[in-house]
Amino acid sequence: MQFGRTTLSKFVIEQTRGQHSEMGALLIDVAAAVKTISALVGKGALSGFSGALDSTNVQGEVQKKLDVLTNEAILRHCEWGGQLAGMASEEMDEPYRIPDQYPRGRYLLIFDPLDGSSNSDVNVSVGTIFSILQRSEAGEAEPGDFLQSGHQQIAAGYAIYGPATMLVLSVGNGTHGFTLDRESGNFQLTHPDIKVPEDTREFAINTSNERFWEPPVQRYVDECKAGKTGVRSADFNMRWIASMVAEVHRILMRGGIFMYPKDNKDPAKPGRLRLMYEANPMAMLITQAGGVASTGRERILDVPPETLHQRVPVLLGSKSEVERVERYHQEYD
Ligand code: F6P
Ligand code: MN
Repeated sequence: MQFGRTTLSKFVIEQTRGQHSEMGALLIDVAAAVKTISALVGKGALSGFSGALDSTNVQGEVQKKLDVLTNEAILRHCEWGGQLAGMASEEMDEPYRIPDQYPRGRYLLIFDPLDGSSNSDVNVSVGTIFSILQRSEAGEAEPGDFLQSGHQQIAAGYAIYGPATMLVLSVGNGTHGFTLDRESGNFQLTHPDIKVPEDTREFAINTSNERFWEPPVQRYVDECKAGKTGVRSADFNMRWIASMVAEVHRILMRGGIFMYPKDNKDPAKPGRLRLMYEANPMAMLITQAGGVASTGRERILDVPPETLHQRVPVLLGSKSEVERVERYHQEYD
C-alpha cells in the first residue's frame, strides 16, 4: 500500500476550489454512487440481479434489472446534497425532479448508469458515463436547461468496471484516471494527464453494419483492412468490445479510433449513441486528452442538442486517424 497518493477527493477539492467548489461535493457523491455500482456489478450472478425486465426505456431498448438499479443508485447518492437543479438519464424518459425535501443548486447531472449493459450478464467490462452542466442560477431545472452543447460541460467522466474499477475524469483541465483501491475504498490518482497517442494502427467498429455505412466510412475501413498491401501501407488491428466505455478506455490508454457512424439501417436514427450522456462526455475526455471526437462532419462538442435522448454519429480517438475520416467525409460531400 502506498501512502501519499492523491485521492479523488483531494484532487476534486483542489481542482474545484473557488469557482466550482460545490461541484467538488457533487463529484464525490458521483464517486460514491460508482463505488456502490462497482460492488453490485462485481458480484456477478451472485447479486441475483442478472437478466432483463419486461420494461423498455425511452429508446425502445429492453431494460436490464441492473440498468434500473444502477440508475436508482445514482439518483439516491446525488439528489440530497443541494448542488443539483435536476438530473437526466438514459433510463428515464423525462428529467428527474429533485425531491422537495432537498435544497436545489445550479448543476445538472446527466448520465448513462450502465453503459454496455448487454455485456453485464457475460462478465465483460461495463461502465457508467456522466456529464455535468450548469444553469444560470440555483433552482428547479426546466427540461430545456439540459439542452446545452458539449462545450458547456463543466465536468465529464466515466467509471469502468473491469478487472479493476477506474474513474476517469475531466473538469476542463486535462483527463485524469483514478483506480479504486478495494481495500481502502479510495480512488487513487494512477493516470494523471492522460494523452491519446496521435497515431494508431487500431480501429474499432461493428462491421456487421458495414453494408449500411456511408461511403467515407466504408472507404476508411476498407483501407485499414487492405493493410500493408493497400494505400495505407500498414497493417491494422481491430477490436470490438460492444461497451463504449471499455473502447474509449483502451483508446485513452494506448490510442485507436472508435466509430459508431451514421448508417441507413434505420433511417429514423442518425447513429446509435446518444449525444447528451454518451457522446458529449466521452468527447470532452478525449479532447482534453489531445484526441478528436467528431460526427464525421462536425466536432461532437459543437453539435447543438435538440432533444435529451438524441442520437449522433461518433468517431473518436487518435487525432490523425479521426481527422482522416473527417477528410473522407468532406471529399465525399
Ligand atoms: O450504449 C450503447 C452501446 O452499448 C455502447 O456501449 C456500445 O459501443 C454499443 O452500444 C454496442 O453496439 P452494438 O450492439 O451494435 O455492438
Ligand atoms: Mn450506453
